Amino acid sequence: SWTMLNIVEESVEAVRRQVGDGRAICALSGGVDSAVAAALVQRAIGDRLTCVFVDHGLLRKGEAEQVERDFVAATGVKLRVVDAAERFLKALSGVTDPEEKRKIIGREFIRVFEDEQRAIMADGPVDFLVQGTLYPDVVESGGGTGTANIKSHHNVGGLPEDLQFTLVEPLRTLFKDEVRRVGEELGLPAAMVWRQPFPGPGLGIRIVGEVTRERLEILREADAIAREELSRAGLDRQIWQCPVVLLADVRSVGVQGDGRTYGHPVVLRPVTSEDAMTADWSRVPYDVLSRISTRITNEVRDINRVVLDVTSKPPGTIEWE
Ligand code: XMP
Repeated sequence: SWTMLNIVEESVEAVRRQVGDGRAICALSGGVDSAVAAALVQRAIGDRLTCVFVDHGLLRKGEAEQVERDFVAATGVKLRVVDAAERFLKALSGVTDPEEKRKIIGREFIRVFEDEQRAIMADGPVDFLVQGTLYPDVVESGGGTGTANIKSHHNVGGLPEDLQFTLVEPLRTLFKDEVRRVGEELGLPAAMVWRQPFPGPGLGIRIVGEVTRERLEILREADAIAREELSRAGLDRQIWQCPVVLLADVRSVGVQGDGRTYGHPVVLRPVTSEDAMTADWSRVPYDVLSRISTRITNEVRDINRVVLDVTSKPPGTIEWE
């Protein structure tokens, strides 16, 4: 029977055959799929793979470091990091419409990636683009299930086809749990391999209202606390994901410390799901919710209220935007 080691060896061999002595590039997002795909290809062709990490400034606390430091340490991958936070913030300035935010983030990502691609090709031709496409993605795009497009999904790493590369998709035959096991076999950081789903547009679609540097900092702190407490309570594998949403245009009156405050609420959106197509709100124990609420309101400035989203999907989507 097929062990993980067999799968890894076979995949590495297949990439070697496909790429020959050519060069490849790969966009890393911080997510499981692109990381495992990149690690496999690195195993196969070493420094003839260049990874690009576009830090759009919309990631959660610690995620950029996970890619820049831990992933590189674990794999030895050749990585170019682009700190594009300023550029994304500028493009998002004044924008409040969810779909417009998504489009802007997708568009800017492609522009930054194309700049990098040109720089990499100055050292010689690149014919291959690595993508972390999984088996369910293959089935979904070929199957024509005709699901309505409710939100324009943006996958950082999901690039347009007119880039003129041959695709290398070493995860095409694998399911998510197999990809995680391959990632473990390759020695990737556990936090990366077991990461819960996180949208490509990142925190940009978890701030209701305009995305600003200050609001991102606030949300990043609140989100880190929620994740820490949910992990500490051992709920990571039971909960599909728990978006924390900042209602940046809403204020309410509170009383904190020595007086009246007029701050913002954050929404906790813990959900249970099999495939994200449908979801139910997670029955997180009250004491865990209580710890999250107490800590967020004590530790995060400008947040004076924590509310719980008890809507299933449908009718509510998992993300708020
Ligand atoms: P919704 O909000 O549509 O989300 O119920 C379903 C799942 O998809 C994730 N999501 C995204 N993932 N790019 C992604 O890679 C996106 O643009 C995007 N939007 C939503 C969401 O976190 C949930 O797991």
